Amino acid sequence: MYRFIDYYHNEVVLSFDDHPFSKDPKHVWVVCRHQDQWLLTKHSDRGFEFPGGKVEDNETALEAAIREVKEETGGIVKEIEYIGQYKVKGKEKVIVKNIYFAMVNQLVEQDGYYETYGPVLLKELPEGIQKDKKFSFIMKDDVLQRSIEEIKRRLK
Ligand code: GTP
Repeated sequence: MYRFIDYYHNEVVLSFDDHPFSKDPKHVWVVCRHQDQWLLTKHSDRGFEFPGGKVEDNETALEAAIREVKEETGGIVKEIEYIGQYKVKGKEKVIVKNIYFAMVNQLVEQDGYYETYGPVLLKELPEGIQKDKKFSFIMKDDVLQRSIEEIKRRLK
């Protein structure tokens, strides 16, 4: 279990156990790979981030993850696995978000990309994301680094 403070000074708790905070989280975030690159989206307000969003009433968190990848990047998920979960104590409410790792085998051009400008492929996640205005606040706390470490551990 890891605890830290995020970009907006909210408290975050992160764990790679099996759904430690909620069996039924309402938010998802998907670390994606496509053709040996990281697949992100460019959110219209927040900037570059891995795709994700809210779980709708009629779907599971896993279904939401697959849908969000498609909506925000055009990516068709080939394989996806649960990695962990984090809880953010916001000013008004607490949210719980599942983290997934997905392999995307195809990018299909979409008519629109919801609140984003669509796919962004990066060979490397650059140093200094925390201070880089092009990147979203959700990429600026320890969730990103710890999740990448966990994914690399599992891929070994
Ligand atoms: P609305 O219904 O649109 O208001 O959304 P919501 O309130 O259900 O959730 P929202 O996405 O607005 O997030 C609520 C709080 O959680 C805010 O304080 C956000 O800053 C914070 N938050 C959401 N996602 C993340 C995340 O991935 N990382 C961090 N650190 N904070 C997040």
